[in-house]
Amino acid sequence: MWGGRFARGPGAIMEEINASIGFDFRLALQDIAGSKAHAAMLGQTGIVERADAQAISNGLDEIAREIEAGSFNFSRALEDIHMNIEARLTELIGPTAGRLHTARSRNDQVALDFRLWVRDTIDALDQQLRGLQWALAEKALAHAASVMPGFTHMQPAQPVTFGHHLLAYVEMFARDRSRLRDARSRLNESPLGAAALAGTSFPIDRAMTAKVLGFDRPTANSLDSVADRDFVLETLSIAAICAIHLSRLAEEIVLWATPQFGFVSLSDKFSTGSSIMPQKRNPDAAELVRAKAGRIIGALNALLIVMKGLPLAYSKDLQEDKEGTFDALHSLSLCLAAMTGMVGDLTADLSRMKIAAGLGYATATDLADWLVRTLNLPFREAHHITGRLVAIAAAQKKGLEKLSLAEMRVVEPRISEAVFAVLGIENSVRSRTSFGGTAPKRVRAQARLWLKRLKK
Ligand code: ARG
Repeated sequence: MWGGRFARGPGAIMEEINASIGFDFRLALQDIAGSKAHAAMLGQTGIVERADAQAISNGLDEIAREIEAGSFNFSRALEDIHMNIEARLTELIGPTAGRLHTARSRNDQVALDFRLWVRDTIDALDQQLRGLQWALAEKALAHAASVMPGFTHMQPAQPVTFGHHLLAYVEMFARDRSRLRDARSRLNESPLGAAALAGTSFPIDRAMTAKVLGFDRPTANSLDSVADRDFVLETLSIAAICAIHLSRLAEEIVLWATPQFGFVSLSDKFSTGSSIMPQKRNPDAAELVRAKAGRIIGALNALLIVMKGLPLAYSKDLQEDKEGTFDALHSLSLCLAAMTGMVGDLTADLSRMKIAAGLGYATATDLADWLVRTLNLPFREAHHITGRLVAIAAAQKKGLEKLSLAEMRVVEPRISEAVFAVLGIENSVRSRTSFGGTAPKRVRAQARLWLKRLKK
């Protein structure tokens, strides 16, 4: 395609380092969509005769069919997806194919294809996130009143409900989706028509191609259009944040599924056995979701480093934007699917959770609050008294609710029988009715609200 000024073709190593067809074949359908829009515009503006534009468009349709049928022959000698498709178009329709590249360069072509691909992927990820939120919200509604220990510093802190815990993730994934929407609206400008870097002398209609391809408008600077990959960086950043969220949930599932916690069991569909230890049920899917955050963050780092200090406009370095991105976003999609399945299938052991919720003096704050409310003590003083009661109970290796009234009155004589009501974990959870709190009625309302929102 570009051999005119060369006496011989590239060396074997040059071909190997240069070729991108091994991965950019994934852009085939976007490339065809972009080329069809470009051809239509060339015909409409009279830059190319209408009949030629039509022949090009028909040829591209045929190539799309071949690709979908798996009969298209990708060739490394043809370097990348753009030249593979153009070469095939030439085979199909002859020299007219050569008119397609009028007023265009592979630089704006690849910028366009990748934008289209990232945009499609954002839409698909958004739907998957919605599915995961749905699975979480449904579980949350079922477990709006199931008590479990809430932790800070991985130490029992205060009892919460399992539903409340799951809804925390629904919020995180909602922010991930909002970030995706935001990134999508920023990337939704068409770089097509920037040509190699400077624009073109042909009377192209960039607004037309932008519209046909579903963009809000054409990009406003041709240099930026071919040099920019921050739409990829932004998407990978969002993917990395989302992967972090997934990894935290995955880690919790790994912990919860241990016999030591025993809070949840994973279904057979999402567990694996051991080839040597017959008793094992391993949470491999959760472990892999936890681990894949590493490669997603890696892809973001790799592209940040590729981009750093690159002069304008296009440099071949930019070809390195693709493999890591394909891998990262594919991995994220897989993680979302696995997590959605795991969450939907998991069963909670309510009695194990409840017993654990009562360990570690998790209702000590309720006792301190009771002292504030009932005896009108400053919180700090109530905190101190409670601390002493916890120390006494701990010395006897028993729970706070197992202290006698007499034992408590040694520390604070005004404590009455009524205190025992707040020492129960169910009461503790039920009392946390502040907006965003863990009280079952709050959790139920939030879960219902999410299910309603997600249905739309
Ligand atoms: N395969 C190239 C890429 O992914 C396409 C653009 C090539 N442009 C060029 N001037 N060599 O970036």
